[in-house]
Amino acid sequence: MCGIVGVLGDHEAAPILVEALKRLEYRGYDSAGIATVNAGKLDRRRAVGKLVNLSDQLVHEPLAGKAGIGHTRWATHGAPTVTNAHPHRSGAVAVVHNGIIENYREIRAELAQHNISFETETDTETVALLTHHYLSTGMSPVEAAFAALDRLEGAFALAFLFDGEDDLIVAARKGSPLAVGHGDGEMFVGSDAIALAPLTDRITYLEEGDRAVVTRAGVEIRDEKGRLANRPIKTVSIDNTRVDKAGHKHFMAKEIAEQPKVIGDALAHYLTPENDIHFPEETIDFAKVDRIVMVACGTAYYACLVAKYWFEQIARIPVEVDIASEFRYREPPIPARTLALFVSQSGETADTLAALRYCRDKADTILSVINVPESSIARESDIALPILAGVEVGVASTKAFTCQITVLFLLALKAGELRGHLSSDRRADHVSALRAIPSIISLALDQNEAIRKASVRLSESRDVLFLGRGLMYPLALEGALKLKEISYIHAEAYASGELKHGPIALIDKHMPVVVMAPRDTLFDKTVSNMQEVMARKGKVILVSDDAGIEEAGDDVWTSIRMPSVPPLLTPILYAIPAQLLAYHTAVAKGTDVDQPRNLAKSVTVE
Ligand code: G6P
Repeated sequence: MCGIVGVLGDHEAAPILVEALKRLEYRGYDSAGIATVNAGKLDRRRAVGKLVNLSDQLVHEPLAGKAGIGHTRWATHGAPTVTNAHPHRSGAVAVVHNGIIENYREIRAELAQHNISFETETDTETVALLTHHYLSTGMSPVEAAFAALDRLEGAFALAFLFDGEDDLIVAARKGSPLAVGHGDGEMFVGSDAIALAPLTDRITYLEEGDRAVVTRAGVEIRDEKGRLANRPIKTVSIDNTRVDKAGHKHFMAKEIAEQPKVIGDALAHYLTPENDIHFPEETIDFAKVDRIVMVACGTAYYACLVAKYWFEQIARIPVEVDIASEFRYREPPIPARTLALFVSQSGETADTLAALRYCRDKADTILSVINVPESSIARESDIALPILAGVEVGVASTKAFTCQITVLFLLALKAGELRGHLSSDRRADHVSALRAIPSIISLALDQNEAIRKASVRLSESRDVLFLGRGLMYPLALEGALKLKEISYIHAEAYASGELKHGPIALIDKHMPVVVMAPRDTLFDKTVSNMQEVMARKGKVILVSDDAGIEEAGDDVWTSIRMPSVPPLLTPILYAIPAQLLAYHTAVAKGTDVDQPRNLAKSVTVE
C-alpha cells in the first residue's frame, strides 16, 4: 500500500525521492508524486500509473531543491487520478500519507464552515487543509502540524513539508509504519528500511503515536503524550534490504528459486547440530497451553491452516484458525491457557495487528511468526519468531509461505515433545526429514519446464478448480489464491470431499481441475473424486509423486511429478508446483507478475 519517503539532503532531492519510491513499488500503487522546497518555494509533481510516468514528467518539468517528500498511492478514497495523488498541498504545506483518516468527513465539515474548499476526493487532503488552517492562525509549521495531528482519528504515517522551510520535515506514525534514516548531515524518512537502503543503514523506527521533527542536524521525537522520547538508532543489515532480481525475469521467479536457501537458513537458525529444536526464547510452556488461536490474512492464513493439522496431530492441541478481519470484530472469547499466534510476512497487516491487540491482556501468550523483525506485530508480541525468508518483493507471497510453515512445523514438533506426545526418537526422525527438504525442493524446482507447459494450457481457461484433502486442502486454497492474484483467472479451491456438495455442478470439458494429491493414506479417496471429475469431462492436472501418478492411470489431462517426502512434510514441497503453476500461467497471459493490478504487498489499512 502507500509508500512514503522524505529527504533533507545535500544533493538534488527529486532523483533520490524517485529512486526511493522505486524501492517501495513492491507495496503496490497506482499513482505517485513528489514535492520539494527550492529556494524556499514549495512545489510538486504528480502522475497516474507507474513511476516512469512521474519520471517522464520530471524530465519536462524538473523539480529542484534538496528537501522533499514523495509518495506512491494505493487508492482508497477517490480514484487514482492526478488530483487525488499525493503530495496534497494547501497553501504553505504539502503532506504525504499512508493509512486512512477516519474522521475526515467531520473535519471537512468543520473546515467548510471557514469557507475552506476541497479539490480532491481523498481523506488525506483534510490533513493539508487543517494544517494550512492552523498556519493561518499564526502557528509555526511544527505547531500547526502537531495541532492537526491532535485532531486525526484512524491510521496514519504522515510526512509534512513546508513552504519557506528547506530544513524541516515533520513525521508522525499511528497505526502505519514509519522510519527515520540518519545520514551524515542528511536525514531521511521512509515507510521502511528498504526505501532508505542505499541512503543509510542507520534507522530509527518510530513507535505508535510518535511525532518526529526532522532537520539535517537530527531528529527530535515526542511520544503520544508529548514527552521527549529516546528511540534507538539501529544498524540495518544490507542483506535485509537488498532488492534485486538476481538475473530472474521477475522477483516472484527469484523468490520461488530462493526457497531451498531460505528454508535452509530458517532450519539452521532453529536447529542445533544435534537436531534439537531451539527457539531463542524458550518461554512457551506448551504443557500449559490448552488451545491455540491462530490469526492471519491471505497466504499467511493458509499457512495457519496447514499448521492446524500439525499442532493437532503432532501435539494434540486444539487449534482454531481465523481470518484477522473477521476475528477482530467478533469479540471471540479467549479462555485461560490460550496461546494466540499471529502469522504475517510484513508484520504490518492492519487487521492482523488489530487482532493481536484484541488478544493482549486476554491470551496467556502472544506469539508471532513474522518475516520483518522490526515490524509492529513483532514488536507488540511477547515472542516473535523470525522466518528468515529475506526481503520478499513479489506481491504474491512464495518463500515467506514455505518459511512460515517450516517454522510452524518446528513449533508443532516442539509442542509435541513438551506435551509428551512426541518421543525424542520420532522428533529426530522428523527433523532429519526436514533437513532434507531444501534439496528435495531443488528437485521439485527441476520440474519447472513441465509445469510451464501445463501452465500454457491452463492460461486458456476462464475458471480453474483446485482440490485437496487433509494437508493438501490448504495447499489447494493457496494454489487457487496464487493463480487468481497474478493471472486474473478465476480460481477456487475446495476440500476434495466437498466436491459433490456444489462445485461438481461446474465441471465440464472447459474446466481444468488441479488435484494436489501425494500418495498418502487419503489418496484413494481423492482418486475417486478425480474420477468423478473425469467422468464429467473435467480436465485433471494431477500433482502427485511417482506412486500416485502411476496409480491414477493415463486418463488425466496432465500430471506434475513431485519427489516423495514423508506425508507430514508434503505442504512445504507442494507449495512449489502451486507457485510455479500460477507464475507460468501469469507469464503466458502477459500480466504484471510482481505487481498485479489492485493488489498491495503490505495491507496497512482495513
Ligand atoms: C496481502 C499480500 C499477501 C499476504 C497478505 C497478508 O494480501 O498480497 O501476499 O499474504 O497480504 O500479509 P502479511 O504481511 O500479513 O503476511
